[in-house]
Amino acid sequence: MIQATGLVKRFADRKRGAVVALDGVSFEARGGEIFGLLGPNGAGKTTMLRVLATILRPTGGTATIGGADVVREPERVRGLIGFTSGDMGQYGRLTPRESLEFFARLNGLEGARLKSRVGEVMDRFGISEYAAAKIDKLSTGMKQKVAIARTVVHDPPVLILDEPSSGLDVPSARMIEEFIVSAKKSGKCVLLSTHIMEEAEYLCDRIGVVNHGKLMAVGTMEELRQSTGKQRLREVFLALLGLSPNGQEATA
Ligand SMILES: Nc1ncnc2c1ncn2[C@@H]1O[C@H](COP(=O)(O)OP(=O)(O)OP(=O)(O)O)[C@@H](O)[C@H]1O
Ligand SMILES: [Mg+2]
Repeated sequence: MIQATGLVKRFADRKRGAVVALDGVSFEARGGEIFGLLGPNGAGKTTMLRVLATILRPTGGTATIGGADVVREPERVRGLIGFTSGDMGQYGRLTPRESLEFFARLNGLEGARLKSRVGEVMDRFGISEYAAAKIDKLSTGMKQKVAIARTVVHDPPVLILDEPSSGLDVPSARMIEEFIVSAKKSGKCVLLSTHIMEEAEYLCDRIGVVNHGKLMAVGTMEELRQSTGKQRLREVFLALLGLSPNGQEATA
């Protein structure tokens, strides 16, 4: 479902000069698979997800979603994905119900189908009780749930989720987790980034470890354990980044 080949993204930053956020990333993720991106702050995870979601144009390389090219067929790609990123703005003056209806309409739903789908999604994400409040007045976690709900209202086959459970309390994070698992079971392809090791282990069929814009390793948690000879998730992760447990770059 998702295929990335040699993706490069360079930013021309006024203060920092050229920033290479993606440095030749290739991977694929299939339908019915949850693929997780793990990596330190600034590794390039959000950039990768934004390129795949057609928000950013890659500097080099190619990527397709369901066979549609992210640069040449962005409209088709957008119809196939639901994309949520923490830094994405919401229309604060709308209510969750209005926001969901707006996104549903953008994606071609209308009439009774639209109403029932929006109601279903609001129930699923526990939004119904504050469906009529202004989004501006909701808590961080409530906003995050609305943000995820609105991106899946059209039931897309591919979900691209940037730190979906960040800022959520335990019950809400659990709810999102259950949603992701059921999406996988219904054959969807889920690509997510996370800093939560436990979540990565529980949810992800395969994990890609990203550092300095490169994929350092890809595999199941078991494969990553074996390749590093470490058991504890945090140690596996640090080993793949080439860092010692105190966070310093290990000398080769
Ligand atoms: N619009 C931009 N202009 C300049 N540099 C950018 C821009 N967007 C991202 N970058 C840089 O690209 C690099 C990768 O950033 P990115 O947001 O993809 O990291 P990340 O892995 O998502 O990190 P985090 O875990 O903190 O969310 C960083 O060095 C960042 O400063
Ligand atoms: Mg990020």
